[in-house]
This record gives sequence, C-alpha cells and structure tokens, in this order.
Amino acid sequence: MIHCDGLVKIYKTDDLEVVALQGLNIHVEPQEMMAIIGNSGSGKSTLLNILGGLDRPSAGQVKVGEWDLLKMTDDQLVEYKRRTVGFIWQNNARNLLPYLTALENVEMPMMLGGKVDRPYAKQLLDWVGLADRMHNKLFQLSGGEQQRVAIAISLANRPSLLLADEPTGSVDSQTSDRIMDIFRRLNREIGITIVIVTHDLSLASKVDRVVAIRDGMTSTEFIKRNPNLILDASDSSDGSTDRRRSIQEVHEEYVVLDRVGRLQIPKAYLQALQISDKASMEFDGEKIMIKAPKSLEVLNDEQ
Ligand SMILES: Nc1ncnc2c1ncn2[C@@H]1O[C@H](COP(=O)(O)OP(=O)(O)OP(=O)(O)O)[C@@H](O)[C@H]1O
Ligand SMILES: [Mg+2]
Repeated sequence: MIHCDGLVKIYKTDDLEVVALQGLNIHVEPQEMMAIIGNSGSGKSTLLNILGGLDRPSAGQVKVGEWDLLKMTDDQLVEYKRRTVGFIWQNNARNLLPYLTALENVEMPMMLGGKVDRPYAKQLLDWVGLADRMHNKLFQLSGGEQQRVAIAISLANRPSLLLADEPTGSVDSQTSDRIMDIFRRLNREIGITIVIVTHDLSLASKVDRVVAIRDGMTSTEFIKRNPNLILDASDSSDGSTDRRRSIQEVHEEYVVLDRVGRLQIPKAYLQALQISDKASMEFDGEKIMIKAPKSLEVLNDEQ
C-alpha cells in the first residue's frame, strides 16, 4: 500500500534549512494497521503530510497504491486526496466545522466529492458511537466526541488508506482505548489500511506493527513487530481481547536494512559498546555479531 524509499524532506525558511526526513524507508502492506512513534520534531507529521498529498518530498520515492506521489499532476493530487486517503489532523480544529452538526460535518467531504450518501454518513457516526449526537453542532460536543466525528469525516469518501496524526493526543485513556477499538474494527470490517502517528508507546500493543522514527533530523527507522496481534487479527473478533492481553507484550525488534546492505544501529547500542567509527563483524553461519573492535591496530593492519 505504501512504499517510501530514501524519503527526504528539507524545509527551507529564509537562510535556514531543516532536514525533517533524511532518507526514510517505510513499507506498509494493504490492510495493515500500524503506528509511527517518535519524539516531538522527529518528522512524523512531515511523513504523514507527504503520504496524504499535502506536502511534496524534496527527494526520494513515495508510492501509495498505484499512485506515484512525486509524479502526480495537481488534478490527480486533488483526486487522490478526495478518494484514496482519509486524514485526521494533529490539530483537531482543522478537521471540523464548529457551526455545523456532526452529520453535516461528515457530509461535507461527500459534497465536495460530488455525492452525499446520508445513510452512510449516519452509519459512520453510528460506528463511532455518536448515533444520538449526530444533530448536535460540533461546539456542543466534548473533545473526545469531536475526535470521533473527525474519524467519521475522514472515512466519508471511503478511502483505502487512513492517516491519523495523534488521534488520541488530547483525550483521556478511556476515550483513547475507544478510538483505537474503532480503528481496529474498521480495519477488520472494511479492510482499510491505517497509519497512526503517536507519542504514546502504550498504543503499541494495539496495532500490528510499530515503526519508530528516531533522532529527529537523522530519522533512523527502527521497527517493532507484535506477532501476537497479527495472530490476533486472524481470530474471530469475539472473545479475542482476553487472549490478546494474556500473550501480548512480546515484541521483536528489527533494524532496517537498505538496498545496498547498510543498516543503522541504534546509538544507545553503539554507546554501550563504545563503538565509534569501526566495529568488528563475525558471521557464524547463523547470525552476524557486531562487536567493538578488539584493537584498532588490528583493524588498521587489515586495511
Ligand atoms: N513548515 C515547516 N517549515 C519549517 N520547518 C518545519 C515545518 N514543518 C515542520 N518543520 C520542522 O521539521 C521537523 C519535523 O517536524 P514534524 O512536525 O514532522 O515533527 P513531529 O514528529 O510531527 O513532531 P510532534 O510530535 O511535535 O508533532 C521539526 O524540526 C520541525 O520544526
Ligand atoms: Mg506532529
């Protein structure tokens, strides 16, 4: 569904350059539900904005489905934003029109797309648990309810990819759980691919996979996969919660290898072993061991 290779985004303001993404690689399978985790300023929103067609990358490749986001014309981009991708913004106010009702808010993107499907708009609001609030104006709803309206809006045009930037950032943990459950249900029932950006590590157990963007500008990609949730996803939806709880929290960490065989080792590991610019590497037929060099002189002799 998503292929990003060597994605670079440089923001230029006056004489200052900010490298927000530096050669980022991300691949997302169709119908996957994954999270992107990283510190503030690590480039999460930048990545999501590029995937959502709101911003163009400075270099690299980015493909979503059959679309090549670098080669699209402006008209195709409008079409892409309208039909393929649903977006939940980090800043809630950007999603919502406060003086319209919840239902009118959901119908708005349908109207812009040329066809209002009221039964579907109502169904979406029902899915997010707002069937009885659909005729309330947005300013009459709580923050968590507004956030759920934002989810319904993002799905109005039946996108195949949902991009959610900190969708649980401003709600309590109960509402956050509820929102994650809604995402999971949508993912299972309509097969939508979901990418969630979050600061919140506790959401990791609720998605199939977590990709962490590290180190701000040097955006190291670092992947954790939760095998239990993949298992869980093929279960029937009933009664799987207990099972999920009982076997979760077993994460395997991966480091990403690029096409020419380079891998990026987390800084903390290198520091722990006091590896600076050279390391020794051994292959025993099964695994590769990277160690601090025994003696730099030995290494230098080999060169
Ligand atoms: N329009 C812009 N112009 C200049 N710099 C920008 C712009 N947008 C983002 N940046 C810079 O790019 C870097 C990445 O920003 P981004 O918004 O992607 O971070 P983030 O991971 O989403 O952070 P947060 O968790 O705080 O939302 C930051 O250093 C930010 O200051
Ligand atoms: Mg952000």
